[in-house]
Amino acid sequence: MTATAIEPRHLAPVPGPLPGAPRMLTGDRPTGRLHLGHYAGSLANRIRLHRRYESYFIIADLHMLTTKNSPGEIAETGRHATDMVLDSLAAGLDPAHSVFYLQSAVPEVAELSLLLSSLVTVPRLQRIPSLKEMGQHAGQREMPLALLGYPVLQAADILAVHAAVVPVGKDNAAHVEVAREMARRFNRRYGEVFTVPGLVPADVPVLPGTDGRAKMSKSLGNAIYLSDPPDVVAAKVRRMYTDPARTTAGVPGTVEGNPVFVYHDAFNDRPAEVAELKERYLAGRVGDAEVKDKLTAALNRFLDPIRGRRAAFEADRGLVEELIVTGTARTRREVKRTLADVRATMGLTAALAGFRRAARSRSRAR
Ligand code: TRP
Repeated sequence: MTATAIEPRHLAPVPGPLPGAPRMLTGDRPTGRLHLGHYAGSLANRIRLHRRYESYFIIADLHMLTTKNSPGEIAETGRHATDMVLDSLAAGLDPAHSVFYLQSAVPEVAELSLLLSSLVTVPRLQRIPSLKEMGQHAGQREMPLALLGYPVLQAADILAVHAAVVPVGKDNAAHVEVAREMARRFNRRYGEVFTVPGLVPADVPVLPGTDGRAKMSKSLGNAIYLSDPPDVVAAKVRRMYTDPARTTAGVPGTVEGNPVFVYHDAFNDRPAEVAELKERYLAGRVGDAEVKDKLTAALNRFLDPIRGRRAAFEADRGLVEELIVTGTARTRREVKRTLADVRATMGLTAALAGFRRAARSRSRAR
């Protein structure tokens, strides 16, 4: 079964979430500061979309526990979460249009996850390739139960807030598909409670690392962060991997897949400059140093306004924390309502209500 793709360009642009506007949910595990790979892969898309919906952003610390759960890693959650929110705001998420919440502070989600877990089979979850990869990546030889349940917990997140739109990357698309299946199964078996979520496929290519490896990632140490100061960006670009076959500026080089040019294409706001550099690179008429200097300048032009907004948000002490506290309270109210609906629709509240009635009439009879 394939997911229904909601093409962003087919959605009518509306200025802000009208009351009753469809909800969007997306988010990340709290792993720390955001880098250019996050920007290209998801943040840009979120910024573009978020004003059209009532937008929720999860800080998925319970999901983090499926692979990282040492006391030291858990102790860093707070700092990582504030860094992530700060970077998102700096990059362009509007705090007036964004509900940020801490997953573990909404324990009703865990109960919903348990209730939903009878709607999916173990083999269905075992066939999801991203889970095996995540386990191996975390050095697990065998699959932890929580990791197998990762998509079920994610389905609980999505269904708990009735998200209609869940923009995620490739790896997470399979999890949203599980959420869609569970929503349909629940609605058919017990009654219509859940919105069946759509997903917005991110058609952005994965940004390579500065070392030329396929993916920019914190754990690989090949990332340029949104919060890196100009001189750090310059130093990282100077060390960047380019075409290894080009020993001198006179040797014609390869542009295709060359990370320096992938970054130019993604972030340089001067397309004529990029076209001209590529032409000279292919012909062996430009040195790596010039290509890199122009990339540093382009990245700093892109990052400067982000740095400025980050400094302003940071100067407003307690703002990010307050956004998370109020967003978490708001989300928890929503989720409690959904959970009450779910329990009633499943028939889980009937037995206790009956016991109570009987107990009351017994005490009256005494
Ligand atoms: N799985 C996401 C990640 O890769 C985080 C996440 C948890 C999420 N729950 C979600 C994303 C709900 C979108 C919707 O970090």
